[in-house]
Amino acid sequence: MKDFKKDFPIFANNPGLVYLDSTASSQKPAFVIDWIKTYLENDYSNIHRGAYCLAERSENLYEKSKKKVVEFIGADNWREVIYTYNANYALNFIAWSLRKSQFFKKWDKVLVSIVEHHSNIVPWLILRDEIWIELEYINVDNDYNLDLEDLKSKLDSSVKVVSITQVSNVTGQIFNLEEVGSIIREFKWNNWKNRMLHTSQWQISFPLFIIDASQSFPHLKVDVKKLNCDMIFFTAHKVMADSWLGVWWAKKEILDKLKPVFSGWWSIAWVKKLEYKDNNSLPEKFETGTPNVVGAVSLLKALEYIENIGWYEKIEEVEKELVSYAIQKWKTIKQKIDIKILWNLEIKNRIWVFSFLIPWIHSIDIADYLAEEGVCVRAGQHCAEPFLQSESCNHTCRMSLYLYNDKNDIDRFFEVLEKSIKELK
Ligand code: ALA
Repeated sequence: MKDFKKDFPIFANNPGLVYLDSTASSQKPAFVIDWIKTYLENDYSNIHRGAYCLAERSENLYEKSKKKVVEFIGADNWREVIYTYNANYALNFIAWSLRKSQFFKKWDKVLVSIVEHHSNIVPWLILRDEIWIELEYINVDNDYNLDLEDLKSKLDSSVKVVSITQVSNVTGQIFNLEEVGSIIREFKWNNWKNRMLHTSQWQISFPLFIIDASQSFPHLKVDVKKLNCDMIFFTAHKVMADSWLGVWWAKKEILDKLKPVFSGWWSIAWVKKLEYKDNNSLPEKFETGTPNVVGAVSLLKALEYIENIGWYEKIEEVEKELVSYAIQKWKTIKQKIDIKILWNLEIKNRIWVFSFLIPWIHSIDIADYLAEEGVCVRAGQHCAEPFLQSESCNHTCRMSLYLYNDKNDIDRFFEVLEKSIKELK
């Protein structure tokens, strides 16, 4: 198997580094880093403003980046891709735009899953407090899969939005969102008269199906048509691109009806002393001020890197091997030590995220110990407090892998983990 570590300069520059926190942020390959430098040295300028050649080249790259995203997610139109600052920002943007566009009426409901990241909870709670909508949670079953029966039982005519992560950042479980898409489609089909009547100013059927692809997009092929979704969002820094770039895709018919929450250069058609007019074209109306062109170039190059190494098939191949190796190790350590794990040892539909808890040691102490030995993991609540509460955990440690990890990293992790448990007890 190819040694992907060599593609990532951070490892040569930090000998002995065992980086197991890719669920938080992934490392960047030289291919992306070099292209950022090349872009800044050769083509950099602001975009949408200048007629000169640098502006044109930068603009082309910005557009090319969105076209690559469209190709990756199986959408049709690059104008449906809005660049935000990160996934959290994208969801805030979505929630506030829906609010501003009078999408919700009092007591309308938003359904999310219990494992959601706070970024898919708090914006809805803010709307609940401001405009009296309700937020309800769909449970997971004992294997941490989304409980589809629970979803069906909660799907009624008050539900305007179903917003769910494709993969949990705590359990690594991949939810069957194609099935969720079909359930929602069937629900819409059976209720279409009711739906249209309720929402005549919108003239689209509900609920909207929104997917948080932040944890799935770096690992597996995300296809918006197969998923039957209305919107997805994810963040670039988890997929080997730079930070401060989020991607929000939505169907044009929905974006056309949404009002943007911010104003600024590209989103404004004209301004007089006491008047202004919104620019209604896409994606202009949602992208205010100077965009993160460097971030867009980095995402373009990160996606080209995925193409060059053999697409998601290659990532999945490495993932499969490392997940099964790690699971064997987990099984062995669990025979010796009473570790609580927030995933099922036998379940296959998962990515390489492993959250665990040593009941008598604080997870932060474990993470500190590992850090001293050059092993990077995350400890805490992983911005998923409602889920941790439902599991009666106040904290966990989380180790997560990506294509640049290898079996030595996993061995080193378990070696230091066992040492930490002996010494910290
Ligand atoms: N959302 C990122 C994580 O789960 C930061 O760690």
